[in-house]
Amino acid sequence: MRNILVTGGAGFIGSNFVKYMLDSYPEYRIINVDLLTYAGNLENLKELSGNPNYIFIKADIRNRDMMDDVFATYNIEAVVNMAAESHVDRSIVEPEIFLTTNIIGTQVLLDVAKKYWKLNPDDKYCRDYKAGVKFLQVSTDEVYGALGERGLFVETMPLMPNSPYSASKAAADLIVRAYNETFGLPMNITRCSNNYGPYQFPEKLIPLMINNCLNDKELPIYGDGMQVRDWLHVADHCSAIDMVLHKGVDGEVYNIGGNNEKANIEIVKLIINALGKSESLIKYVKDRPGHDRRYAIDNRKITSQLGWEPIYTFEAGMQETIDWYLANLGWVENVVSGDYVKYYGEMYGE
Ligand code: NAD
Ligand code: DAU
Repeated sequence: MRNILVTGGAGFIGSNFVKYMLDSYPEYRIINVDLLTYAGNLENLKELSGNPNYIFIKADIRNRDMMDDVFATYNIEAVVNMAAESHVDRSIVEPEIFLTTNIIGTQVLLDVAKKYWKLNPDDKYCRDYKAGVKFLQVSTDEVYGALGERGLFVETMPLMPNSPYSASKAAADLIVRAYNETFGLPMNITRCSNNYGPYQFPEKLIPLMINNCLNDKELPIYGDGMQVRDWLHVADHCSAIDMVLHKGVDGEVYNIGGNNEKANIEIVKLIINALGKSESLIKYVKDRPGHDRRYAIDNRKITSQLGWEPIYTFEAGMQETIDWYLANLGWVENVVSGDYVKYYGEMYGE
């Protein structure tokens, strides 16, 4: 049995990843630590109730005592750190929680992992660790900043984050790197492009547009709608993290992306057509401050060195995602009640 701590496992990518791992590795035990913020939802994981290889703990990754307790109790051998404040628009309104969760939370986890994993607990400079341990930091392509019309993000580029969210993720990447350099803590960092798929909270572009279309609400497009993102189905992100967890070379950073560049307006029109709605729902609104124009991933390192490949085409993945939202209207209704109404009103002026 391998005991893997997944943080943020009740969120969008986290809940997909926890289920992916339990399906793929029946011999592993997954310990999911999640604070259940507005973005965390245990309904995403309800099919796991009664699974003896799955443990859920409601806790804050910034809480050192609780993280220490998790390591002491479950003999954690790997950490996949996904817990984060993840929405750029929220980081523009309220940056501080992005810094505490995304940076301090990561540093607390690194410290506790170092304490439990080093071979000589009395030696503060010990660089020898238990066999097979690893800290995997789930980061984002946004740490590289924005691209012009051409070019791709490669792992060796300098970090030039533009939003409080991406700056906090970049800071976390640097602290993870520093623990590897200074203390020899085994680690990898993954930097993935935009994900889509089931269980994504409808504050992000694709589920927000699906939900608004279904309710015949305006579709708010920031600026000219020509910003480009490189879309990847969440299941492909999960298989890439799995690959890096098992085969990633210590200390290395891996970009993850599926070569699927699309302008925002194209995506919105695709959703409108798939749901049989009218383009008159589109409303161009004030642009996001500091809005990154284009992201695009060079995925040659992970594909050539680790043999990872995405499975989904964008067309099939989008159709499946739209079908999932149509089949799970109850899930959407639950997550958009309460706080979401307030958020939406403040964000989009309704
Ligand atoms: P999400 O917002 O859906 O989920 C985040 C989860 O973290 C939630 O369950 C939340 O409750 C939990 N959390 C927040 N603060 C916490 C804390 N202090 N302690 C414990 N748990 C806490 O995010 P997501 O879209 O699933 O993203 C997951 C990770 O992947 C993030 O680190 C994000 O930066 C990264 N990422 C996301 C994308 C994307 O397109 N969504 C792409 C690349 C990387
Ligand atoms: O690139 C990876 C990142 O992708 C992750 O690290 C982030 O956690 C994730 O939120 C995502 O960031 P983006 O800012 O790219 O995603 P978002 O869905 O918020 O926006 C996608 C694009 O759509 C962006 O150009 C802004 C635009 N947009 C978004 C919303 C919510 C609109 O035009 N209107 C909207 O209402």
